[in-house]
Amino acid sequence: MIRHGAARNIVAPLNLFAGVKAVADQSGAKAVSNKPFLTDIKTLRDRARQHIEKGAVTEGYAADRDTVVKILNEALATEIVCVLRYKRHYFMASGIHAEGVAAEFLQHANEEQGHADLIAQRIVQLGGEPNFNPDGLTSRSHAEYVEGENLLDMIKEDLVAERIAIDSYREMVNYVGTDDPTTRRMLEGILAMEEEHAEDLVSLLSEIGG
Ligand SMILES: [Fe+2]
Ligand SMILES: [Fe+2]
Repeated sequence: MIRHGAARNIVAPLNLFAGVKAVADQSGAKAVSNKPFLTDIKTLRDRARQHIEKGAVTEGYAADRDTVVKILNEALATEIVCVLRYKRHYFMASGIHAEGVAAEFLQHANEEQGHADLIAQRIVQLGGEPNFNPDGLTSRSHAEYVEGENLLDMIKEDLVAERIAIDSYREMVNYVGTDDPTTRRMLEGILAMEEEHAEDLVSLLSEIGG
């Protein structure tokens, strides 16, 4: 049942999102400012919704599993991009606050790597193939790879990425529902840790920028 072609075709063309835009606007109609990360979250939600709707109209276990594997591969790409971004920030951190912040970056990098490993393992358990292909990695990822020009920028970019991950994992938990308790437990565990990461970064921001 492993379909090699499917793993390479994770990101749907943008014009396919048009059909779900109204749904996203309805439920996501918070007061959206012009801050770029909110736009990114909307894009993320549109894309997640696209996969969810596809799963909802497809009957049968195998079809559900394909969708779960597809979603998990996007989460895997997200975690890998987060590892790379945190590593970059760890090595590039400089300034009077650098030491403590760098230690936090490194810890987060290691924990994101742990998430990536859990997700890859689960994909294999579901009969899928984890996509580690560097080609298209940043397109498959929900979060972005932003280097940041200084320590404050780095922390802010990491916080944006964590917020994207939090929304993304919450959507995945809701999608999986009670259909796949094992995947759901894993996702809930990762979600809780992303929330801790965001809290860590907010604390750093208030210490350094506040
Ligand atoms: Fe993570
Ligand atoms: Fe995180």
